[in-house]
Amino acid sequence: IRVAVVFGGRSSEHAISCVTAGSVMAAIDASRYEVLPIGIARDGRWVLPPADARLAISDGRLPEVDGTGSALALPFDPDAPGLMVVEPGEVPRALGGVDVVLPLLHGPYGEDGTIQGLLELAGVRYVGAGVLASAASMDKGYMKLIWQACGLPVGPYVMITDREWRLERDRKLDEVKQLGRPVFVKPARAGSSMGITKVTRDEDLAAAIEEARTHDPKVIVEAGVEGVEVECGVLQGVADGPTEASVPAEIVMLGEHDFYDFETKYLDGTSRLEIPARLPQDVVDDLRATAIRAFETLDCEGLARVDFFVTPDRRLILNEINTMPGFTPTSAFPQMWAATGVPYGELVDRLIQTALA
Ligand code: DAL
Ligand code: MG
Repeated sequence: IRVAVVFGGRSSEHAISCVTAGSVMAAIDASRYEVLPIGIARDGRWVLPPADARLAISDGRLPEVDGTGSALALPFDPDAPGLMVVEPGEVPRALGGVDVVLPLLHGPYGEDGTIQGLLELAGVRYVGAGVLASAASMDKGYMKLIWQACGLPVGPYVMITDREWRLERDRKLDEVKQLGRPVFVKPARAGSSMGITKVTRDEDLAAAIEEARTHDPKVIVEAGVEGVEVECGVLQGVADGPTEASVPAEIVMLGEHDFYDFETKYLDGTSRLEIPARLPQDVVDDLRATAIRAFETLDCEGLARVDFFVTPDRRLILNEINTMPGFTPTSAFPQMWAATGVPYGELVDRLIQTALA
């Protein structure tokens, strides 16, 4: 079985995708699967990375796909990134003959339905959510709209489109001020806490919105929720079996950081995961059931990680869903599944088998 592992990509989570891919490729059972690694450089160029490409964080340095490697796509103009000739049944040349693609991409142009659409067009099977589910789950505004419509618990928020920010800034700022303090200002479609600012003073709002807009012209401002952050892994059922939720993990902050930001997540070891989360059994049961509903209402497939806040009075608030969660051995998703009885290698195998079924 030939498995193409696609990683890197055009989003700000490029490096995290490389780390995810390095770990997954190391765990794929080589006796059953033939792996074809495909890197997408930051400029969108598809390349075959050298066999010794560094795909881990070492000494605080993040890995990167080198776009000067042998080009894989069929560009109209070899110097124009991203333009590909699409032959019938053969997207970029190297995807012909591949049985399944593992799009281990985080963020826009990877986790947002774009590559999923390309693979649908090409008739190539792939792991994870489809086009609509990926797109809706990438956009923190749409994911919340859908959850709200389905009666799932989300916190107060305000969306600010590019047009609204340019033409109705004062009205939007007034709306945001109704959310109380603190608020979290986020790019609507990003991940790994990129571009997020915690704001406690009104005078800092506009700058925080501008910062988020450097990642995405669409911004969401969320009311701060008091409570602990708890995450839950979700897997599509095997064959026609029911969707399953993992043992949840609680994020414990150790250092100075004000919230679970990029450094805390990946670089300085100032957070740790408590698995299982220290919550009463009835809250855990409710959380797992809610994670499954969050996954199913968005029509997700394969896998996702659903992130919650649990308030001091034990209410659940959905924060977000990630349809391609971080997948290194120390990431929450595989650790939660390991604690639930599905070790890393088996998890990767299950995802591939689900996509092939
Ligand atoms: N967006 C990052 C990779 C995560 O959710 O784990
Ligand atoms: Mg995310």
